[in-house]
Amino acid sequence: LANVFWKDKKLLITAGPTFEDLDPVRFLGNRSSGKMGFAIAEQAQKLGAQVTLIAGPVNLPTPQGVERIDVRSARQMFAAVQQCYAQNAIFISAAAVADFALAQSSEQKIKKQAGQEGLTLELVKNPDIVAWVAEQKPKPFVVGFAAETQNVIGYAQDKLQRKKLDMICANQVGENLGFESDENRLTLITAGVEKALTTSSKSQQAVELLDYIAEVIEAS
Ligand code: PMT
Repeated sequence: LANVFWKDKKLLITAGPTFEDLDPVRFLGNRSSGKMGFAIAEQAQKLGAQVTLIAGPVNLPTPQGVERIDVRSARQMFAAVQQCYAQNAIFISAAAVADFALAQSSEQKIKKQAGQEGLTLELVKNPDIVAWVAEQKPKPFVVGFAAETQNVIGYAQDKLQRKKLDMICANQVGENLGFESDENRLTLITAGVEKALTTSSKSQQAVELLDYIAEVIEAS
């Protein structure tokens, strides 16, 4: 099924972290390596899909045959997604997007003052990229991710509903799972149905996710 389904399907993926700059040398970031999103891009391309990969700042080679757009901040990622989403049948939001950016980033390196004991940063909310795509009409089939350390399924179900997603991949974060690791354990959740995968490489998780997306879309 997956081979037939994905042949020539247009798939948009975001992957990696976003970096929110404080000044020319400092940023707020997170531990996403991009491995999960890049694994999905690689496996989908092998199944025949036409893949566009919007990548935050990561140290990974571009999977063969995949079109890659590099961005840095959440706002840049949002702009790239706004440009691309309408040409795609499916959108998978695997990026760990910063929820907040600096209200003002400094053009010059911020210097500490003599005797300064603290620093307060003012942050402003970033756009919610996946929720924005899910609101568009027409919209692609929208798959989100939720990385959590506790109440993984509960929080993921909450995000599925709140962001009006078609599917969410609940991601147990822990030792050797989730951020930076080579292995992962996803639970694939649609309205009313949960499919728990067993721990395996991110490539294997990607294959099972792509299979399941095909199954869900074909059944709808
Ligand atoms: O990159 P790796 O090291 O391989 O790690 C993989 C991963 C853990 C980063 C990835 O699999 C994952 O779980 N990504 C989502 C991380 C997360 O918890 O995101 P969130 O709960 O902040 O957001 C939920 C969903 O909304 C995600 O699909 C996210 O891409 C999206 N989002 C969030 C905020 C925002 N401003 N815009 C978004 O689109």
